Amino acid sequence: SGSAAGAPDAAADLPLPATDAYNITNSPSHKDIDLAIESRSMRVGGKEIKRYVYTDAARPETAALGAGLPIVVDAGDTVRLDVANGTGTATNIHWHGMSVPNEQDGPGLLIEPGTDHTYSFKAEAAGTYWYHSHERPVRDQVDEGMYAPFIVRDPADAEYDLDQILVLDDWVAGGNVGHMEVVGDVDTVNGRTGKDISPLALATGQIAKLRLINASSARTQVMRFPVGVRVTHTDGAPLPEPYTTRSLEIAPGERYDVELAMTDSTDKNLAITNERDAGLRIPITYTASGAKPAASPFTPPPTTSLAPGLNARNPDVEMTLSDDMAGMSGHRWTINGEVFPETGRFDLERGRTYRIRFRNDGMHRMGHPMHLHGAHFRVLDHDGTPEDREIWKDTIDIPYGQYVDVAVTFDKPGAWMVHCHILDHEDGGMMTTVDVR
Ligand code: C2O
Ligand code: CU
Repeated sequence: SGSAAGAPDAAADLPLPATDAYNITNSPSHKDIDLAIESRSMRVGGKEIKRYVYTDAARPETAALGAGLPIVVDAGDTVRLDVANGTGTATNIHWHGMSVPNEQDGPGLLIEPGTDHTYSFKAEAAGTYWYHSHERPVRDQVDEGMYAPFIVRDPADAEYDLDQILVLDDWVAGGNVGHMEVVGDVDTVNGRTGKDISPLALATGQIAKLRLINASSARTQVMRFPVGVRVTHTDGAPLPEPYTTRSLEIAPGERYDVELAMTDSTDKNLAITNERDAGLRIPITYTASGAKPAASPFTPPPTTSLAPGLNARNPDVEMTLSDDMAGMSGHRWTINGEVFPETGRFDLERGRTYRIRFRNDGMHRMGHPMHLHGAHFRVLDHDGTPEDREIWKDTIDIPYGQYVDVAVTFDKPGAWMVHCHILDHEDGGMMTTVDVR
């Protein structure tokens, strides 16, 4: 989300953000991109929004994309991204959820205004990822639009009738309605709101893959589906046992891939909505064809068993999340009582599996979506209750007053960041590093 400026009259002259590029059905792979970061004005909900946008310099029309340039490649591709910073602020890029060598990860390097930097890495695992600035204050960069989807395709994805990215965000158009965090008052999908949202078109028997990404700075998006959808991936990781649901709570930074299959019995006024009426309604245009329901092209991976040592009660690493008013400028968001970079370092060995406990001991009735760079983790238990599904993630909400244990094995050395994905909390200190040797 970000802030709106300017009179509605000025906004009327602006085109609506383009959304075609988020339908990636049969899209070619673009693995060699001159990526530009620009400052732009866009029309959101009748207002002019000043924002940053990631664009493909070779395709100027991509500057109108409401949720940034989707990078779409195939698993195994070597990606080269030559990033030119056309803004007035120094920045860098983090490839959220992707397993890349530490020096390609983002934090630690700065792309000064008017300069460029080339990132290059192999897109190892298929999945729904995203990329965004990692330069603090991230609230001034990511919240203002320095983010976009990054999709690594599996060959089976080509069999879906529709492969659609849905980037969720909330923008501040009429005043900040949050408390300590930036929460916008206009919900958007792929940069559009209300009646400007592009419908999803499907016919009976067709099956769509929907890739939901929550790019909001602070808001958990609670999505409701008109029919049961089958969850196949969490944060890009395939589920050994997919499950069906009518709703999903998606915390900032999290992604879900779901399958939506149309059957003839479904009613005609279908839409995907969220829990508040702030413009987010994704209509589904449905054509009855009498066709048989399509089979899913998704092959779940085999289940894996936990390393026996992980059943030990005691965590190897404990991170207690809290907040206090001890800071010079007011609120501090802490890990083990300290703010970054005083939060200490955790030394871990490559190839070894650790139980990490995130405990939410904060003063406020809010969750902290904790994100780990460099590896996915497996969810072990919530407040002592074992997670019975095998779920791999890179971001997980730690509810108020509870703890969550996860298992993680790093296979790449380096210093990896761990932080809350509520941008004000990240900026306010709730961030640390694990040192993997
Ligand atoms: Cu998506 Cu370190 O962040
Ligand atoms: Cu937080």
